[in-house]
Amino acid sequence: MIALRVITLASVALAFGPQGPPAQYPQGCALIIPAYPSGSDTCVTYEAVNAAFTQARDRVGLPPVNGKFDTDAVGRLGTVVHEASRILAAQYGLSKDAIANGLPLIDTTKTVIEGYCPPFLMTPECEVSRYRSVTATCNNIEHPHWGAAMNGHHRFLAPDFADGISAPRASVTKKPLPSARLVSSYVHSDDGFHDHAVTILLVAWGQFIDHDITLSAETKDHTTGKTPKCCDGGTPHENCLPIEIPANDHFYAQYKQRCMNFVRSQAGLRYNCRLGPRNTFNQISSILDAGTVYSNGEETQEKLRTFKGGQLKMLPVFEEQGMKPLLPLKLDEPDEGCIRPSEDVYCFLAGDPRVNEQTILAMVHTLFVRNHNHLAKQMVEVNPHWNDETVFQEVRHINAAMVQHITYNEFLPMVLGKEVMQRHGLILEKNGYFDGYDPLTNPSVATGFTSAAFRFGHSLLPSTIERWSKSHRYVGSQRLSEMLQQPYDLYKGGWADNYIMGLINQVAQALDNSMTQEVTNHLFQEPGKKWGLDLAALNIQRGREHGVPGYNTWRDWCGFPKIYRFEDLNGIMSNQTVHGYKKYYESPDDIDLWSAGIAEKPLPGSMVGPTFACIIGKQFHNFRHGDRYWYENGGWPSSFTLEQLAEIRKMKLSRVLCDNSDNIDNVQVYAMVLPDHEINPRVPCKSGVLPKLDLSKWRDASYHSSPGGFAPFK
Ligand code: HEM
Repeated sequence: MIALRVITLASVALAFGPQGPPAQYPQGCALIIPAYPSGSDTCVTYEAVNAAFTQARDRVGLPPVNGKFDTDAVGRLGTVVHEASRILAAQYGLSKDAIANGLPLIDTTKTVIEGYCPPFLMTPECEVSRYRSVTATCNNIEHPHWGAAMNGHHRFLAPDFADGISAPRASVTKKPLPSARLVSSYVHSDDGFHDHAVTILLVAWGQFIDHDITLSAETKDHTTGKTPKCCDGGTPHENCLPIEIPANDHFYAQYKQRCMNFVRSQAGLRYNCRLGPRNTFNQISSILDAGTVYSNGEETQEKLRTFKGGQLKMLPVFEEQGMKPLLPLKLDEPDEGCIRPSEDVYCFLAGDPRVNEQTILAMVHTLFVRNHNHLAKQMVEVNPHWNDETVFQEVRHINAAMVQHITYNEFLPMVLGKEVMQRHGLILEKNGYFDGYDPLTNPSVATGFTSAAFRFGHSLLPSTIERWSKSHRYVGSQRLSEMLQQPYDLYKGGWADNYIMGLINQVAQALDNSMTQEVTNHLFQEPGKKWGLDLAALNIQRGREHGVPGYNTWRDWCGFPKIYRFEDLNGIMSNQTVHGYKKYYESPDDIDLWSAGIAEKPLPGSMVGPTFACIIGKQFHNFRHGDRYWYENGGWPSSFTLEQLAEIRKMKLSRVLCDNSDNIDNVQVYAMVLPDHEINPRVPCKSGVLPKLDLSKWRDASYHSSPGGFAPFK
């Protein structure tokens, strides 16, 4: 066995970048692992790679792919690839570091793996065009797969798997970590403190943009196509990893529940199907491109379009009453992500399959589809000679720009605060173009962000969702657990507006270790049942199975002092939380990132504590600096003219609410913040404080005024 310094292979990886090392190795060597401090170097041969892959393929099984690589086909191949890595690791006695940083350097295009790898993970030809591709492929011309749908999640830190390959993270003492439900029930109980500043529209927006940038591929049962059941006896699915519920659990014990269903995500693939530890993958693009509205899948996007006047399909249920339409019905796989009271009731169809997760999320989806159609209608008036395709694509481009602008102008300043925004280069330009696009920045979502940090929003969830009247009076409310996967209230005339008014008037929960029981005991509870799942436990278990390193490792990555004794956490989080960690974890190095991240006391002017601010700040830096189609960018065919950009910069979420609701008269200027006479007054929708998007700036769209001028419609 060869001992390796961490720095050795990590620096090899950095030196050669994603294309891997140059062909300077001796004949037949796919990778050389340098000996340290002495001894002879190890040559991992191509022959061994081919043999390992073939052996793993025969063991796992790879059914032929019919035409298209779906999630299941990628997952299986992902499993074969990390199982091949396991064989090589055993054969060559590789360290965890060599597995994580060395094996991915092997050029798989020189191996049999190439013949199995999906085309979208090989190098496609890219064309520079005005509009983003559906899947976000070719956003980065040199690295066409960066940020694209169906690609592996990025990693800020090497994964921490107990066996270096795929086994969920374990304690540094090698024992298993405490049950995720145990940690949840002690540290994330329901205390119900309210935030002092933000509305639940901020919570809904967080979830809406989360669903624009990440969807970890779920495992489905091969025969039923549904989520496998891991607690029902019988032979469990190979991806089952159920959560143990302690016998004395304060809630589940009364129903004699000892096992919570949990299934590992599908294994993912890297670029060119390179070797290495288990990876997860993102079914959607990581780019903030309004994928929630348009989908990052070609087939779904087609299903959503009318192909007339650039419009998206909607359901005109309230046409006779003169009210705005709803999202179209989800007629295919109607039970997927939807609890239906009867066969003739349907959930909604949108760009993202999680649209029905809860009613106010479906509401925000509805607003942005309405926004598309309302802009498309105006665009046809401004440019009657444009065809359906041009109108659709240009409005898609504008709607995505609005999502980007609102996120960086209204959402992130509340979540992170100005100082963190400044540190990570997130402050938007007021005039002119942004010159920060960096083709070396990878905008792909990182596992630490998706499996932990951006789940901070789960702490903000209220127990009930309120409806308010247009005169800003409370009308009624409903338990959150009763609207999960049941968005049917929107079918009731006038209720959509009541939910919108609730979104801007109801205060969110505080961001702290506390979580509402609605999601820690009753998540996706079916009608007639008394218990559901526990979202806090799912988050913790998910982080472990995705190999997310412990909280301490992230502190170190962010440049904060590591914790050596549990007591070092006093002052960083509440005493009760520290007490819980000390009671259940073997070592401070074992603490789970999501749990400690939400428990950290917030930074001044921010909702999150320092560790989540660091991870979220870095990720949103990458989304902005690594997106070639970023709305503020100049010099590309996709760039807006400065006049158009000035229009997008005027946009506020409150304008979107005014334009796309039925009968709302006034809204506070910043809709994600509670109204305040002085700093956030309510203003009439008609007032000049909330200007409308002036589409005359798109008349005959001549893009010559943008540097590198381009006329796409001539
Ligand atoms: C009622 C509201 C919400 C519900 C019911 C909900 C539920 C869920 C569930 C069931 C998962 C998958 C858990 C797992 O098995 O790993 C999940 C993942 C996630 N949630 Fe939420 N969530 C809500 C709101 C939010 C909010 C407000 C945010 C952020 C501000 C958020 C961010 C995320 C992220 C980043 C993931 C990971 C997505 C991925 O797999 O790629 N969620 N949520």
